[in-house]
Amino acid sequence: MPHPAQARGRRQAKDDRETAGRLLAAFFDDYEQSIAQRPLVPEVDREVLAGLLATPFPDKGIGVEGLFREINQKILPNSTTVAHPRFLAYVLGPPNGIAPYAEAIAATINQNCNLWQLSPAASVVERAVITWLCGLFGYGDQAGGILTSGGSIAILNALTTALHARRPRFREQGLQTAGSQLVVYTSAEAHRCVDKAAAILGIGLDNVRHVPTDDRYRMRVDVLEETIHADRAAGLEPFCVVATPGTVTSGSIDPIAEIADVCTRQDVWLRLDGAYGALFVLSERKRAAFEACARADSIALDPHKLLFAPPEAGCLLVRDRARLARASAFSSSYLTVEDDPLMVDYMDYGPQLSRSFKAFKVWSALHTFGVDAFRTAIDHMLDLAQYMADLIEAAPDLELMAPVSLTAVCFRIKGATEADHTAVLAALVEEGTALLGPARLDGRHGIRACVTNHRTTRDDIELILTRLSDMARHHHGPVGDTLEVAP
Ligand SMILES: Cc1ncc(COP(=O)(O)O)c(C=O)c1O
Repeated sequence: MPHPAQARGRRQAKDDRETAGRLLAAFFDDYEQSIAQRPLVPEVDREVLAGLLATPFPDKGIGVEGLFREINQKILPNSTTVAHPRFLAYVLGPPNGIAPYAEAIAATINQNCNLWQLSPAASVVERAVITWLCGLFGYGDQAGGILTSGGSIAILNALTTALHARRPRFREQGLQTAGSQLVVYTSAEAHRCVDKAAAILGIGLDNVRHVPTDDRYRMRVDVLEETIHADRAAGLEPFCVVATPGTVTSGSIDPIAEIADVCTRQDVWLRLDGAYGALFVLSERKRAAFEACARADSIALDPHKLLFAPPEAGCLLVRDRARLARASAFSSSYLTVEDDPLMVDYMDYGPQLSRSFKAFKVWSALHTFGVDAFRTAIDHMLDLAQYMADLIEAAPDLELMAPVSLTAVCFRIKGATEADHTAVLAALVEEGTALLGPARLDGRHGIRACVTNHRTTRDDIELILTRLSDMARHHHGPVGDTLEVAP
C-alpha cells in the first residue's frame, strides 16, 4: 500500500507529464508554423537575459506550466531562428522533423553510450549509423568510427589516432621523446579546427603548414609535396595531411586522389575534414568528387549539418578501427564487461566515458524519412546554390568571388569596401530579409551565403538578391565609397 503522500506524489507526476506533453506538442507546432515569420536574429532583451543570470533557482519549483511560461517569455524570444529559410550564414540548418521527438525519447531512456551493457540497443544503433556512413565512402570491413560532438572533435580524434600510430609509445611518453618534430599539412583554406587540434595535442602551431591554394581555392599538391621534402631535409618529420573535401568558406574540394598519391609516396597519414562537404557524397551528381575519400585513413563529417540532426552530432570514420581503439581504449576493472561480437563499447573509440545517445536522432531520421529524402534535400540545396550563382553572374552590380562547388556562394558587390559589405549584412538582418555571413578569400572581402536548409526556396534566393542589387544600386560616388543602405 503506498503511503497517501506517495500516492499524491504519483498523481501529481502523472498530471505533470500530461501537462508537459500537451504544452510541448503545442510548442512544437507553434514553432514549426511560425518559423518563416520569426526574426532571424532576436532583438535581444538584455534585461530579461540579465534577469536569467541574476534570478536564483527557487527552493520550491515553478512547476511545468511555470517552466513553459519562462520558455515562451524569456528563452524563445531571445533565440536565433536557425531554421528560418533565409538563414544562410555559417553551415547550419534546421533540425529534421523527427529530431525533437527522437531527442525526447533518448532523454527518456537515458542510455549512457559508453559500455554496451549500459546501452545495448544504442550501441547497435550507433554501429548501424557508422556502418552506413562507412559504406557511403567505400570503407571496408576493418572500418569503424564513433559519433562525436562535432567535426572539430572528430579531427582531434583523428590526429590523436595518427599520433599514436606514428609514435607507438605516445601513450607512455607523450611527445617527450627524442624523435624529430612532427609536422601536419593542411591548406590555407582549412577550418581552424585543424590548428586547434594541433595546438591541443602539443604538436604546436609552428608545426602546421598551411599549403597555399590554387585559383579554385584547392590545396596545391605540388607545393604540398615540395613542403614535405623541405621539412624532411630540415630534419623534421612530416606525419599527417588534413585535406578538406568542402572548405568552409567557398566549398572548394581539395584534389583528394592526388593528395592521397603524395601521402602514399611520402608515407604520411591522410585525414579528411569533411565536416561540411563529405555528406554531399549522397548526391549522385557529386559522388565522383568524393570517390578518392576511400583512400584516406579517416574522414570527419557532420550529421548535424547535412543530415539535419540538431547539434551535437559529428562523426569520425576510420579505415582501420583497431588503430582508433589503440589510441583510446583503456581497461578499467570496474567498467569492464565481456566482449560481445554484436555490440561495441564506444568508450574505447574516443576520449569520452559518459556519452549521450547521439546516434538515435540520426538513425530515427534515416528510418522515418528514408535516405532518398536526404538525397533530394541535398540536391535541392545544390540547385539553389547554383541558381544563386547564376543570378549573381547576371546581376550587373554583383560578382562571384569563387566557383560554386557545393552550396557555399561567395560574392561581392562590385566596388564595395569591407565596411560597405558589413553594413549591407547588418541591414539585411535588420530589415528581416536574411542572415548571410562575411567572406574573406585571398585577402578579398565579400559576402557568403551557404544553403544548408531544405526549407529555402528559389523565391528566398530571389528576394535576397533583389534586395542586394537594390542596395548595390544605391552605391554612390567613386568606387570604394560607403554604400547607402536605403530602403
Ligand atoms: C570544414 C569544416 N571543418 C570543421 C568544422 C567544425 O565543425 P563543428 O562545428 O561540428 O565542430 C566546420 C564547421 O562548419 C567546417 O565547415
